[in-house]
Amino acid sequence: MSLVYVNGQMQPAQSAQVSARDRGFLLGDGLFETLVAYRGRILGLDQHLTRLQHGANVLGFDPPPAAELAAAARHTLAANGLQAQDAMLRLTVSRGAGPRGLLPPAQPTPTVVITAAPWAAAAPAAQTAISVPFRWDAASPLAGLKTLNYLPQILGRQAAHAAGATEGIFLNHAGHLVEGCASNLFWVSDGALFTPALACGPLPGVTRAFVLALAAGLQLPVVEGAFPRAQLLQAAEAFLTNSLIELAPLTWYDGQPIGRGEPGPLTRRLQAAFRTMITAGLP
Ligand SMILES: Cc1ncc(COP(=O)(O)O)c(C=O)c1O
Repeated sequence: MSLVYVNGQMQPAQSAQVSARDRGFLLGDGLFETLVAYRGRILGLDQHLTRLQHGANVLGFDPPPAAELAAAARHTLAANGLQAQDAMLRLTVSRGAGPRGLLPPAQPTPTVVITAAPWAAAAPAAQTAISVPFRWDAASPLAGLKTLNYLPQILGRQAAHAAGATEGIFLNHAGHLVEGCASNLFWVSDGALFTPALACGPLPGVTRAFVLALAAGLQLPVVEGAFPRAQLLQAAEAFLTNSLIELAPLTWYDGQPIGRGEPGPLTRRLQAAFRTMITAGLP
């Protein structure tokens, strides 16, 4: 039976409950993280919790301390018997229950929900993408936060699927590439690795940061900046990253092949480096 952590208690998944007055449910007033545990060790746990804390600082509430959340995540893995295999975790922290209206209570009690499930980190399938048919607001205070407001990403992903693609790529109001609906974006041109700068509005992905570190270790030139859509169309190869897909080749964009329309050699090198990082001992 699958067990869910809710505010310090493990509850059966079918009957786990949070308050109907929870602001996460009513208003999207909260944050989440998706994490992967490789044989019981959670990759980038500190980085995920730091990102969550940063998001809470912007929203203006105090989540439980990182040590408590880390212990709760490990406890959820153990309670579900997932310590010896690869698993995914979803950590949701909302501002908690509150009265009617937008203004939160002065002393909110955050709600913490953690779910865990087996996850087979298989070699990810090649992805195809379209440009999302509306713009990403890089100036929004929510840009770069993993809040419970994922409606733009849901609409973008729905548009991608309706167009027969697996991912939607956001452009911001300046017409610069941002990221996928649930992934960061990288591409290769002239032997260098390119990715949109955080100022363009993407989530500061934990996997993105690992890939940048791996690229530095491989002495690959890396360029973070503001790039128009044409840069991706003209790239030699591209890939998407997130905690679940790790690095997934991106082979088509807006109906055109990227490079030869197949996973590229640099993508494969970085995928191999990522795998080595996992097997050699998690950061
Ligand atoms: C919008 C968005 N960008 C990027 C990412 C990648 O983040 P991470 O590598 O931390 O999983 C995600 C993760 O789901 C995401 O939702």
